[in-house]
Amino acid sequence: MTLPIITIDGPSGVGKGTLAQWVACKTGFHFLDSGAIYRALAYGVLAEELSVDSVAEITDLAQQLPVRFLATSVFYAEQDITAQIRTEAVAAIASQVAAIAQVREALLARQRAFAQLPGLVADGRDMGTVVFPEAPLKLYLTASAEIRAQRRVKQLKNQGIDANIPQIIQDIVARDERDATRKTAPLVAAQDAVMIDTTELSIEAVCQQTESLLWEKGFLS
Ligand code: DC
Repeated sequence: MTLPIITIDGPSGVGKGTLAQWVACKTGFHFLDSGAIYRALAYGVLAEELSVDSVAEITDLAQQLPVRFLATSVFYAEQDITAQIRTEAVAAIASQVAAIAQVREALLARQRAFAQLPGLVADGRDMGTVVFPEAPLKLYLTASAEIRAQRRVKQLKNQGIDANIPQIIQDIVARDERDATRKTAPLVAAQDAVMIDTTELSIEAVCQQTESLLWEKGFLS
């Protein structure tokens, strides 16, 4: 029997994380936030004061990245970095280190180790294309850059951080461009992915649409 895996890919701010956690709750499956692994690596690059051009050193760090997930918290060595990895500064570095082929290769086994019974919901950019190409259900979420930036600003405001919308739009577009045009595992939908445009949909509507797919594919009974 192949392990039940549901992949959810797409650019930042499309609602992947919220949907992935909802699906994990609904199915009782494990949850992989692959972006958090790239963000933890970026945190390490900043903490160790490595240059983003030091491919060999960053690859070494990726190979023995001291990241651990405990419920909804992320730890780097013994330090809780859950909040720190959500900053724009870490996101910018994460997008740069994620473009390094050797880094992606070094993180593959770590991501695949999350695939355990009863199943896995994997959230990222290349979950359905590279990490779990055999997954029986693949979702690919999209939304306009403006709406994704607005959602990000709302998120930041909820955290008490003042945000500049034009700057956030610019950052989001730059990161998407880098993620989509990199040579290794670019952000692209798997051929057999179900596409969901969330621009005009509430998160409840996206969950409802996904729930129908979960029943259809036999993930719920
Ligand atoms: O989903 P996120 O914003 O937490 O991801 C952080 C960065 O990591 C983002 O620039 C894309 C990159 N990433 C990736 O290249 N591949 C993944 N599977 C997940 C994230």
